[in-house]
Amino acid sequence: MTEKVQTPVLELKGLTKIIRHKTLVNDLSFSLNQGDIYGFLGPNGSGKTTTLRMITHLIFPTSGDIFIHGHSVTRDYRRALSVVGSIIENPSFYLNLTAIQNLKLSASLADTPVGSSRINEVLEIVGLADAKQDKVKTYSLGMKQRLGLANALLCHPAIIILDEPTNGVDPAGLREMKALIKRLAQQEHITFLISSHMLREMQDLCNKVTIIQKGKLVETGRVHELLASYQVDNLEDLFFACVEGDQL
Ligand SMILES: Nc1ncnc2c1ncn2[C@@H]1O[C@H](COP(=O)(O)OP(=O)(O)OP(=O)(O)O)[C@@H](O)[C@H]1O
Ligand SMILES: [Mg+2]
Repeated sequence: MTEKVQTPVLELKGLTKIIRHKTLVNDLSFSLNQGDIYGFLGPNGSGKTTTLRMITHLIFPTSGDIFIHGHSVTRDYRRALSVVGSIIENPSFYLNLTAIQNLKLSASLADTPVGSSRINEVLEIVGLADAKQDKVKTYSLGMKQRLGLANALLCHPAIIILDEPTNGVDPAGLREMKALIKRLAQQEHITFLISSHMLREMQDLCNKVTIIQKGKLVETGRVHELLASYQVDNLEDLFFACVEGDQL
Protein backbone atom coordinates (compact mmCIF):
# COMPACT_ATOMS: atom_id res chain seq x y z
CA MET A 1 0.00 0.00 0.00
CA THR A 2 1.37 3.42 -0.87
CA GLU A 3 1.54 5.99 1.90
CA LYS A 4 -0.62 9.04 1.32
CA VAL A 5 1.57 12.09 0.69
CA GLN A 6 0.09 15.22 2.19
CA THR A 7 0.09 18.30 -0.05
CA PRO A 8 1.73 21.16 1.83
CA VAL A 9 -0.55 24.02 2.86
CA LEU A 10 2.33 26.44 2.46
CA GLU A 11 5.61 25.91 0.66
CA LEU A 12 8.67 28.17 0.48
CA LYS A 13 10.94 27.53 -2.49
CA GLY A 14 14.37 29.14 -2.57
CA LEU A 15 13.06 32.24 -0.87
CA THR A 16 15.70 35.00 -0.89
CA LYS A 17 15.70 38.67 0.09
CA ILE A 18 18.63 40.95 -0.59
CA ILE A 19 18.48 44.59 0.47
CA ARG A 20 21.38 46.90 -0.37
CA HIS A 21 23.74 43.98 -1.09
CA LYS A 22 22.90 42.34 2.25
CA THR A 23 21.33 38.88 2.08
CA LEU A 24 18.66 38.85 4.78
CA VAL A 25 16.98 35.61 3.73
CA ASN A 26 19.07 33.08 1.86
CA ASP A 27 17.55 30.37 -0.33
CA LEU A 28 15.01 29.29 2.27
CA SER A 29 12.88 26.24 1.47
CA PHE A 30 10.49 24.41 3.78
CA SER A 31 6.84 23.43 3.81
CA LEU A 32 3.95 23.32 6.26
CA ASN A 33 1.27 20.64 6.53
CA GLN A 34 -2.33 21.03 7.57
CA GLY A 35 -3.14 21.24 11.26
CA ASP A 36 0.48 21.42 12.41
CA ILE A 37 1.79 24.12 14.73
CA TYR A 38 5.22 25.26 13.59
CA GLY A 39 7.64 27.18 15.71
CA PHE A 40 9.76 29.52 13.56
CA LEU A 41 12.91 30.07 15.56
CA GLY A 42 16.18 31.89 15.12
CA PRO A 43 18.42 34.44 16.86
CA ASN A 44 17.63 38.17 16.66
CA GLY A 45 18.17 39.42 13.14
CA SER A 46 18.15 35.94 11.57
CA GLY A 47 15.42 36.90 9.08
CA LYS A 48 12.19 35.57 10.64
CA THR A 49 10.14 38.75 10.30
CA THR A 50 11.56 39.38 6.81
CA THR A 51 10.43 35.87 5.81
CA LEU A 52 6.96 36.31 7.34
CA ARG A 53 6.61 39.67 5.58
CA MET A 54 7.41 38.00 2.25
CA ILE A 55 4.89 35.22 2.91
CA THR A 56 2.17 37.79 3.60
CA HIS A 57 3.15 39.94 0.59
CA LEU A 58 4.16 42.96 2.66
CA ILE A 59 7.52 42.85 0.84
CA PHE A 60 8.56 41.17 -2.40
CA PRO A 61 11.19 38.41 -2.55
CA THR A 62 14.39 39.07 -4.50
CA SER A 63 14.07 35.51 -5.80
CA GLY A 64 12.19 32.32 -5.00
CA ASP A 65 8.52 32.12 -4.22
CA ILE A 66 5.89 31.06 -1.69
CA PHE A 67 3.04 28.73 -2.62
CA ILE A 68 -0.15 28.57 -0.58
CA HIS A 69 -2.44 25.71 -1.58
CA GLY A 70 -0.31 25.70 -4.73
CA HIS A 71 -0.95 29.37 -5.57
CA SER A 72 2.06 31.63 -5.98
CA VAL A 73 2.21 34.65 -3.67
CA THR A 74 4.33 36.62 -6.17
CA ARG A 75 2.08 35.90 -9.17
CA ASP A 76 -1.39 35.67 -7.60
CA TYR A 77 -1.21 37.02 -4.06
CA ARG A 78 -4.94 37.69 -3.74
CA ARG A 79 -5.78 34.04 -4.35
CA ALA A 80 -2.81 32.75 -2.33
CA LEU A 81 -3.48 34.99 0.67
CA SER A 82 -7.24 34.45 0.70
CA VAL A 83 -6.65 31.57 3.14
CA VAL A 84 -4.06 33.31 5.34
CA GLY A 85 -4.70 35.19 8.58
CA SER A 86 -1.77 36.96 10.18
CA ILE A 87 -0.45 39.24 12.86
CA ILE A 88 2.93 40.44 11.66
CA GLU A 89 3.31 43.83 13.21
CA ASN A 90 1.58 44.20 16.59
CA PRO A 91 -2.13 43.96 15.97
CA SER A 92 -3.25 47.56 15.53
CA PHE A 93 -6.80 48.48 16.43
CA TYR A 94 -8.69 51.71 16.85
CA LEU A 95 -8.51 52.15 20.61
CA ASN A 96 -11.62 54.30 20.85
CA LEU A 97 -13.74 51.72 19.04
CA THR A 98 -15.13 48.56 20.56
CA ALA A 99 -13.88 45.11 19.59
CA ILE A 100 -16.94 44.50 17.48
CA GLN A 101 -16.61 47.87 15.70
CA ASN A 102 -12.96 47.13 14.95
CA LEU A 103 -13.79 43.73 13.49
CA LYS A 104 -16.64 45.21 11.42
CA LEU A 105 -14.20 47.71 9.97
CA SER A 106 -11.72 44.96 9.21
CA ALA A 107 -14.47 42.79 7.68
CA SER A 108 -15.52 45.65 5.40
CA LEU A 109 -11.99 45.67 3.92
CA ALA A 110 -11.87 41.90 3.32
CA ASP A 111 -12.00 40.47 -0.20
CA THR A 112 -14.67 37.97 0.79
CA PRO A 113 -17.89 39.04 2.54
CA VAL A 114 -17.88 38.57 6.32
CA GLY A 115 -21.25 38.75 8.09
CA SER A 116 -22.08 39.82 11.65
CA SER A 117 -22.60 36.22 12.66
CA ARG A 118 -18.98 35.38 11.78
CA ILE A 119 -17.77 38.42 13.75
CA ASN A 120 -19.67 37.23 16.81
CA GLU A 121 -18.47 33.68 16.24
CA VAL A 122 -14.75 34.61 16.18
CA LEU A 123 -15.17 36.77 19.30
CA GLU A 124 -16.77 33.76 20.98
CA ILE A 125 -13.94 31.46 19.83
CA VAL A 126 -11.24 33.70 21.35
CA GLY A 127 -13.21 34.23 24.57
CA LEU A 128 -14.00 37.92 24.08
CA ALA A 129 -17.78 37.66 23.69
CA ASP A 130 -18.40 39.31 27.07
CA ALA A 131 -16.04 42.19 26.30
CA LYS A 132 -17.04 42.77 22.68
CA GLN A 133 -18.84 46.06 23.42
CA ASP A 134 -15.88 47.44 25.38
CA LYS A 135 -13.50 49.92 23.81
CA VAL A 136 -10.17 48.34 22.91
CA LYS A 137 -8.33 50.94 25.02
CA THR A 138 -9.69 49.12 28.08
CA TYR A 139 -8.22 45.79 26.93
CA SER A 140 -5.19 44.11 28.47
CA LEU A 141 -2.32 43.10 26.16
CA GLY A 142 -3.49 39.48 26.29
CA MET A 143 -6.99 40.55 25.25
CA LYS A 144 -5.56 42.61 22.38
CA GLN A 145 -3.60 39.59 21.19
CA ARG A 146 -6.77 37.48 21.28
CA LEU A 147 -8.60 40.19 19.35
CA GLY A 148 -5.75 40.01 16.83
CA LEU A 149 -6.40 36.28 16.55
CA ALA A 150 -10.14 36.91 16.15
CA ASN A 151 -9.30 39.31 13.33
CA ALA A 152 -7.03 36.71 11.71
CA LEU A 153 -9.86 34.16 11.93
CA LEU A 154 -12.49 36.30 10.21
CA CYS A 155 -12.11 34.85 6.70
CA HIS A 156 -11.87 31.16 7.73
CA PRO A 157 -8.10 30.88 7.17
CA ALA A 158 -6.27 27.62 6.52
CA ILE A 159 -3.08 29.18 7.91
CA ILE A 160 -2.41 31.70 10.63
CA ILE A 161 0.97 33.44 10.82
CA LEU A 162 2.00 35.06 14.08
CA ASP A 163 5.18 37.06 14.64
CA GLU A 164 6.09 36.96 18.34
CA PRO A 165 2.50 36.81 19.59
CA THR A 166 3.50 36.16 23.18
CA ASN A 167 5.64 39.26 23.78
CA GLY A 168 4.63 40.90 27.03
CA VAL A 169 1.68 38.58 27.65
CA ASP A 170 1.37 37.46 31.27
CA PRO A 171 1.32 33.76 32.33
CA ALA A 172 -2.49 33.55 32.40
CA GLY A 173 -2.73 35.20 28.99
CA LEU A 174 -0.07 32.85 27.64
CA ARG A 175 -1.91 29.81 28.91
CA GLU A 176 -5.15 30.98 27.29
CA MET A 177 -3.45 31.75 24.00
CA LYS A 178 -1.67 28.39 23.85
CA ALA A 179 -4.90 26.53 24.58
CA LEU A 180 -6.70 28.54 21.92
CA ILE A 181 -4.06 27.90 19.25
CA LYS A 182 -4.02 24.17 20.04
CA ARG A 183 -7.80 24.02 19.86
CA LEU A 184 -7.87 25.81 16.50
CA ALA A 185 -5.22 23.48 15.10
CA GLN A 186 -6.95 20.33 16.34
CA GLN A 187 -10.60 21.19 15.78
CA GLU A 188 -10.44 23.49 12.75
CA HIS A 189 -7.25 22.00 11.24
CA ILE A 190 -5.71 25.44 10.99
CA THR A 191 -1.96 25.44 10.39
CA PHE A 192 0.10 27.86 12.49
CA LEU A 193 3.49 29.39 11.77
CA ILE A 194 4.66 31.21 14.90
CA SER A 195 7.92 33.05 15.47
CA SER A 196 8.99 33.43 19.07
CA HIS A 197 12.00 33.52 21.36
CA MET A 198 10.04 31.93 24.20
CA LEU A 199 11.38 28.42 23.71
CA ARG A 200 9.62 26.82 26.69
CA GLU A 201 6.27 28.13 25.54
CA MET A 202 7.03 26.97 22.03
CA GLN A 203 7.90 23.50 23.28
CA ASP A 204 4.43 23.29 24.88
CA LEU A 205 2.76 24.56 21.76
CA CYS A 206 4.51 23.33 18.64
CA ASN A 207 4.70 19.86 17.16
CA LYS A 208 7.10 20.99 14.43
CA VAL A 209 9.88 23.52 14.29
CA THR A 210 11.96 25.37 11.73
CA ILE A 211 15.20 26.97 12.88
CA ILE A 212 17.03 29.58 10.81
CA GLN A 213 20.28 31.41 11.31
CA LYS A 214 21.64 34.31 9.24
CA GLY A 215 18.73 33.85 6.85
CA LYS A 216 19.49 30.18 6.18
CA LEU A 217 17.64 27.04 7.14
CA VAL A 218 19.38 25.12 9.91
CA GLU A 219 16.78 22.49 10.83
CA THR A 220 13.15 21.70 10.17
CA GLY A 221 11.06 18.78 11.35
CA ARG A 222 9.02 17.21 14.12
CA VAL A 223 10.08 18.45 17.54
CA HIS A 224 10.24 14.98 19.10
CA GLU A 225 12.29 13.59 16.21
CA LEU A 226 14.77 16.48 16.32
CA LEU A 227 15.10 16.16 20.11
CA ALA A 228 15.91 12.47 19.65
CA SER A 229 18.39 13.02 16.85
CA TYR A 230 20.26 15.78 18.75
CA GLN A 231 19.98 13.74 21.96
CA VAL A 232 18.52 16.63 23.94
CA ASP A 233 15.32 16.75 25.93
CA ASN A 234 14.06 20.27 25.39
CA LEU A 235 13.71 22.88 22.68
CA GLU A 236 16.11 25.30 24.32
CA ASP A 237 18.95 22.76 24.18
CA LEU A 238 17.99 21.86 20.61
CA PHE A 239 18.10 25.55 19.67
CA PHE A 240 21.58 26.01 21.16
CA ALA A 241 22.82 22.81 19.55
CA CYS A 242 21.63 24.15 16.18
CA VAL A 243 22.81 27.74 16.40
CA GLU A 244 25.82 27.18 18.64
CA GLY A 245 28.81 29.39 18.01
CA ASP A 246 26.82 32.32 16.68
CA GLN A 247 25.62 35.50 18.27
CA LEU A 248 22.29 35.09 20.04
N1 LIG B 1 14.16 47.20 5.37
C1 LIG B 1 15.35 46.73 5.74
N2 LIG B 1 16.48 47.24 5.20
C2 LIG B 1 17.69 46.76 5.55
N3 LIG B 1 17.88 45.77 6.45
C3 LIG B 1 16.81 45.25 7.03
C4 LIG B 1 15.47 45.68 6.69
N4 LIG B 1 14.59 44.94 7.43
C5 LIG B 1 15.35 44.10 8.17
N5 LIG B 1 16.66 44.28 7.94
C6 LIG B 1 17.76 43.52 8.54
O1 LIG B 1 17.52 42.17 8.21
C7 LIG B 1 17.99 41.30 9.21
C8 LIG B 1 16.87 40.35 9.59
O2 LIG B 1 15.85 41.11 10.25
P1 LIG B 1 14.51 40.43 10.77
O3 LIG B 1 13.73 41.53 11.37
O4 LIG B 1 13.91 39.65 9.67
O5 LIG B 1 15.06 39.43 11.87
P2 LIG B 1 14.25 38.61 12.97
O6 LIG B 1 14.73 37.20 12.88
O7 LIG B 1 12.80 38.87 12.84
O8 LIG B 1 14.81 39.24 14.31
P3 LIG B 1 14.09 39.42 15.76
O9 LIG B 1 14.19 38.08 16.43
O10 LIG B 1 14.93 40.44 16.44
O11 LIG B 1 12.70 39.88 15.52
C9 LIG B 1 18.46 42.19 10.35
O12 LIG B 1 19.87 42.31 10.25
C10 LIG B 1 17.80 43.52 10.05
O13 LIG B 1 18.58 44.60 10.52
MG1 LIG C 1 11.35 39.68 14.07
